[in-house]
Amino acid sequence: MAADVEVERVSKIYGGFKAVDDVTLRIAKGSFVSLLGSSGAGKSTILRMISGFEFPDYGTVRIGGKDVTMLPPYSRDVNTVFQNYALFPHMSVAENVAYGLRQDGVPGDERRKRVREALEMVEMLAFAERRPNQLSGGQQQRVALARSLVKRPSVLLLDEPLGALDRKLRQQMQVELKLLQRQLGLTFVFVTHDQEEALAMSDQIAVMRHGKIEQLGGPTELYDAPATAFVAGFIGTQNFIPGQRREATQAMTSDAGTTFMAARIAGEPARNARVLGAVRPENILLSDREPVASPNRLKARVDASVMLGDTLEFVLSLPGGTHFMARVPRRGARQFAPDTEVWAHWEPEFFTLYPYEDLQGNRTGAGPA
Ligand SMILES: Nc1ncnc2c1ncn2[C@@H]1O[C@H](COP(=O)(O)OP(=O)(O)OP(=O)(O)O)[C@@H](O)[C@H]1O
Ligand SMILES: [Mg+2]
Repeated sequence: MAADVEVERVSKIYGGFKAVDDVTLRIAKGSFVSLLGSSGAGKSTILRMISGFEFPDYGTVRIGGKDVTMLPPYSRDVNTVFQNYALFPHMSVAENVAYGLRQDGVPGDERRKRVREALEMVEMLAFAERRPNQLSGGQQQRVALARSLVKRPSVLLLDEPLGALDRKLRQQMQVELKLLQRQLGLTFVFVTHDQEEALAMSDQIAVMRHGKIEQLGGPTELYDAPATAFVAGFIGTQNFIPGQRREATQAMTSDAGTTFMAARIAGEPARNARVLGAVRPENILLSDREPVASPNRLKARVDASVMLGDTLEFVLSLPGGTHFMARVPRRGARQFAPDTEVWAHWEPEFFTLYPYEDLQGNRTGAGPA
């Protein structure tokens, strides 16, 4: 599989602070790859080094096999859609989209043809003569996209392009973008801090933390087999139970003294080491009687139940006050009133042990923690 974009051992240091720390990433031609991480993780910095708006201190960036590490943006076959899409307010939609082609000296006839095509692609042709301030946020976003697509880059870089949109429009644009990317066979590098968005759209997701890629994988792999407790908690939701790994078995003893069986152990914590056991809320079953046949069970108090549409989420608290979440399909769900006692139980196949250190800061050097 040909790599379209290769980031090899790239670092970017701002005044002693490693914003990007020895990152290697190969992005296959025609694939949709997301950089996912919380604020300050280094996502935009990586994108800027691929686009040429920033140069790495160490490492190499290749596009289509060509070393572009120190080339300016206009010498790279990429285009960027920025979060603040910054359309020219005094120009019509069509003029905004044509702008880049005009700069490149593309002749008038061809220019009009390509602008038309690009606007058709994002279903904005009917709005060609409007000004940006006569468009909704989502429509402006599509114009910004057309403005990038019209240049026919083989690689499109998108920095939180849907960040400004409301939830409904955002979900709609996610589907449209994904279809467009497939149809045109473009390579997309997509930055987001929204894990649902990354799961919905990507072929591969790079989960970033403190300037490094903590795990690279497909959505299913990241969700079902996270490599670290950080990824486990960042993608979807987890209940974490701190405790100690047991000698000789796939089990842990919680700080409260309860033993839990795990089918999976990630990151090779030493025997007797401090660990975090993790189970997702949707894998918890609730019962008002002690489920004696279940190897993993604990007694909790119901604090609240939250209606999430198709599911019902119970907020439980454990002795000691820790919160524990259980999510059940709403259809046919039993109700448990606040302040009642309930047993939460789950199968070992849904329980993973991680080294305790996974959730501790591993940042060295100056900068935000
Ligand atoms: N020009 C700069 N000068 C100094 N520090 C910078 C510069 N650009 C970025 N940084 C720092 O580098 C780190 C990574 O920044 P970056 O913009 O890549 O984060 P991000 O993952 O895109 O975050 P966000 O989700 O908030 O956009 C941050 O701590 C940021 O403060
Ligand atoms: Mg950013």
